[in-house]
Amino acid sequence: MEHRLEIDILTIFPEVVKGPLTESIIGRAVTSGIVDCRVHDLREWSVDRHRKVDDEPYGGGPGMVMKPEPFFAAVGDLKREHTRVILMTPQGTRLNQSMVRSSACNDKHLIILCGHYEGVDHRVVEALVDEEISIGDYVLTNGAVAAAVFVDAVTRLIPGVLGDERSPQEESFSEADGILEAPCYTRPVQFEGMDVPEILLSGHHERIAAWRHKRAMERTSENRPDLLGDQEL
Ligand code: ADE
Repeated sequence: MEHRLEIDILTIFPEVVKGPLTESIIGRAVTSGIVDCRVHDLREWSVDRHRKVDDEPYGGGPGMVMKPEPFFAAVGDLKREHTRVILMTPQGTRLNQSMVRSSACNDKHLIILCGHYEGVDHRVVEALVDEEISIGDYVLTNGAVAAAVFVDAVTRLIPGVLGDERSPQEESFSEADGILEAPCYTRPVQFEGMDVPEILLSGHHERIAAWRHKRAMERTSENRPDLLGDQEL
């Protein structure tokens, strides 16, 4: 196995992250060792008698801020030569498929920090974090869900994870075209008064490919016109 990715996730909600990473394709990638993913409870590194990891914000305001000490201690223990440290936060760069691809190709060891409450003491960002990543323009209750999303997206691009089931290159946001996928159908041919488009039953590969491209462009224009830029329909 030529490519191996190691991931350490630091969160106060280990179970939230573990769920998605133990099921199905990603679960198999993790158990088979293609991806070595360890989920840690940040409270293990708490310096506080009560395992406290948050405190009130300086300057006032609502909510709590995650303390720096547990993050510094944990990253100090886990960091190695080739480690990249990521913080999941709505304040980060918005994740896209090219960031996912770059991580799958280049990263050897990731430490993923999950925020919670109002935010993380900024000294963590300044001293420990290589990249702040957001999974979209909305706010979750905690970064653990976002970490699971990121790890899922990266893991499925590691060679050997999808097997022969499907090729990541043929999907939406592929390098080839950067547009959404065409609609797909399976049996039965007629359902609730709706028929599978005849072209898909024809066995004519070139015409099917042309139909798929046309429908993909239509779908992209309808749902994600921003992806088309100057491309004509
Ligand atoms: N934590 C809370 N919201 C988030 C988001 N959108 N992306 C990453 N981490 C988050």
